[in-house]
Amino acid sequence: MRGACACAVVCALVAVCAGAGLDEATRAAAERQLLSLLGLPRRPTRRLAPPPPVPRALRVLYDARGALPAAAANTARSYHHAPSELDKRFPGDHRFRLYFNLSGVPADELARGADLTFQRAPGAASDQRLLLYDIVRPGRRGKTEPILRLLDSVPLRPAEGLVKADALGAARRWLMEPEHNHGLLVRVIEEDDKSSNAKVPHVRVRRRAEENDEEWNALQPILLLYTEDARAREARERGETRLLRNKRAAQRRGHRSHHHRKEAREICQRRPLYVDFAEVGWSDWIVAPHGYDAYYCQGDCPFPLADHLNGTNHAIVQTLVNSVNPAAVPKACCVPTQLSPISMLYMDEVNNVVLKNYQDMMVVGCGCR
Ligand SMILES: *[C@@H]1O[C@H](CO)[C@@H](O)[C@H](O)[C@H]1NC(C)=O
Ligand SMILES: *[C@@H]1O[C@H](CO)[C@@H](O)[C@H](O)[C@H]1NC(C)=O
Repeated sequence: MRGACACAVVCALVAVCAGAGLDEATRAAAERQLLSLLGLPRRPTRRLAPPPPVPRALRVLYDARGALPAAAANTARSYHHAPSELDKRFPGDHRFRLYFNLSGVPADELARGADLTFQRAPGAASDQRLLLYDIVRPGRRGKTEPILRLLDSVPLRPAEGLVKADALGAARRWLMEPEHNHGLLVRVIEEDDKSSNAKVPHVRVRRRAEENDEEWNALQPILLLYTEDARAREARERGETRLLRNKRAAQRRGHRSHHHRKEAREICQRRPLYVDFAEVGWSDWIVAPHGYDAYYCQGDCPFPLADHLNGTNHAIVQTLVNSVNPAAVPKACCVPTQLSPISMLYMDEVNNVVLKNYQDMMVVGCGCR
């Protein structure tokens, strides 16, 4: 029986998909396994309220097939400033505090990038400079000066529409010590006269009275946080050693002569499998995609193992032994040998939209192992 051949993601998905035919315990076990594969502690709770709109920046990343601008990151979240009473202490546009609440980021995730993007204010004409500081310790009025750490210094030129500053140093600190997240200080100064505060419009930090939610959403500063979770980190560290091994194996395969044999219908190959998240009952928290092509591997691994069956040396030997003595060992298994990631937008526990790239979700190639 081929069912003895191992599979992970696809088996869990198939089990959940075929849910109608499963008893409750099996279905629950399949769902648990799948959630753990996705790195989620539990199924995000079903919300009665309509889901929040997907932030435009996340939609752009998703449409770019999850290509994240931070090396090693597999997750992206977006944040806006959380308004509070403290905002009143910063009445001027040239000096403003931004606070981003990262408390929803799970503890196993490491910050790999944090870009703070500002919209240039209309009418910005002179050359200015934006200074971004991490507020390491807030000052107390008339008692102590705040402790600030400069994160980035960005020149502002008259014609630009967007200004990006790097806040990774602060994001890293906030994830490690959330109780010491005092926000970021944004200062804008005139370029020609270093110490003077900006006098003319520069970037948008503050909402205007006439702006509605939708308008302000499109204009306000946005922090994009890119993280790597523990599962992705382990896979990356494993992959770095596997890549070396694969390279050597490919070199060895290159030296072998090519077998030409007639393709039988039941030979090991990739077969179509579409996973529909609505059928699984997950469409309420997976925002996109609606489903995806997972594929699966099935078929025979006959002797002699042809090169295109992507066999390892071990699989070749096992197939050889099986051809001589079928009782001694089974044939090699038809399994995924190359997998590719997919991107998903989902809602987390605090109802934020998160973009995550999941490794090894889609079969690219099958082989006998
Ligand atoms: C941050 O968000 C969490 C969850 O939404 C909330 O419980 C917490 O009070 C917030 N912290 C601050 C300082 O606003
Ligand atoms: C072997 O792997 C390659 C690359 O991953 C793939 O294109 C090919 O289809 C695989 N062979 C089979 C039988 O799936």
